[in-house]
Amino acid sequence: MYTLGIESSCDETSVSILKNKQVLSCKTFSSLSLHKKYGGIIPEIASRRHLKVIDVVFAEAFRAAGIQLNEIEAIAVTQGPGLIGSLLIGVSFAKSLAYTLNIPLLGVNHLHAHLFSPFLNKKTIDFPFLGLVVSGGHTQLYMVEDFDQLEVLGRTTDDAAGEALDKVGRLYGLGFPAGPVIDKLYDSKTVDEKLFRRKKNNSLNFSFSGIKTKATYLHRELKNSGRLTEEEKVRILSSFQYGVVEALVRNTAKAVEKYHIQNVVVGGGVSANSLLRTQLCSLAKEKGSKMLISELRFCTDNAAGIAGLGGYLFKKGYKSSLDIMPDVNLV
Ligand code: KG4
Ligand code: ZN
Repeated sequence: MYTLGIESSCDETSVSILKNKQVLSCKTFSSLSLHKKYGGIIPEIASRRHLKVIDVVFAEAFRAAGIQLNEIEAIAVTQGPGLIGSLLIGVSFAKSLAYTLNIPLLGVNHLHAHLFSPFLNKKTIDFPFLGLVVSGGHTQLYMVEDFDQLEVLGRTTDDAAGEALDKVGRLYGLGFPAGPVIDKLYDSKTVDEKLFRRKKNNSLNFSFSGIKTKATYLHRELKNSGRLTEEEKVRILSSFQYGVVEALVRNTAKAVEKYHIQNVVVGGGVSANSLLRTQLCSLAKEKGSKMLISELRFCTDNAAGIAGLGGYLFKKGYKSSLDIMPDVNLV
């Protein structure tokens, strides 16, 4: 079965064509460079870009997949969460196509698609599994009985992990988004493990605002006293990344123990982080768990996960109405 996926929830305009779970093409245009000077995503710029490039990305995805439009059997699109103006472009495009081609439309939850991305191509793991979504906007831990039966076990009570890395990194002069830059400059030898360690508790929720504030105060203190050297920056940002990763891994470990579930699936932009990937693999070894993490190219926002999840749900009998609207509140 050929499925077309469309993703436009934030700054990536992405179109992908799948043959079952096999990715034939995934073309993504990111408007990130246009937002960099503002230090964050500007919604109006993002939606204007989606509008400008979506048909080009769509044509490129078909060219790369080597199939014709009339071979597509279902269309999946990100329904939410995300930026309303951005979502609207993808949803409207998908609805028009589904109507014109007279084929089924599936509105897909972007966060659940981050958990489907690790299943693309030949990879798989059994249900039930614990699902960790770590992105720029969300940090959620799910119990996944199936892709139509997900329960949120824990979520961030303030910033998302990616958001915290981006904000702290920007403050220390790394630009936007800082997550991948901190990943690259990370130096394990400089890490102060206690600097950004949170107190242990039983909750599966996450909170990053406390350590973010600590990093902000440290920045002010070092800057005012003229001690904000490059070495100090590396030490603080490496320690900060260590603290964020430790919190993510710790809650995942707690959930494994609490629910006696050994299968863990991880997706979202921050799952590209080298330290997080290493620490999760160590956790899997220690607990005897199975860990399925997105391939690097499918960690950040992409339409392949959307197409995959849409195709999966379609095979389970789901189909959306052509009346669907973007829903920014999906969890
Ligand atoms: O999933 P995503 O593309 O968009 C959202 O749905 O939010 O995630 C983007 C986030 C950004 O915060 C970015 O800094 C972070 O993922 N990110 C990383 C890495 N690559 C992307 N964070 C840490 N290490 C990375 N290698
Ligand atoms: Zn995302």
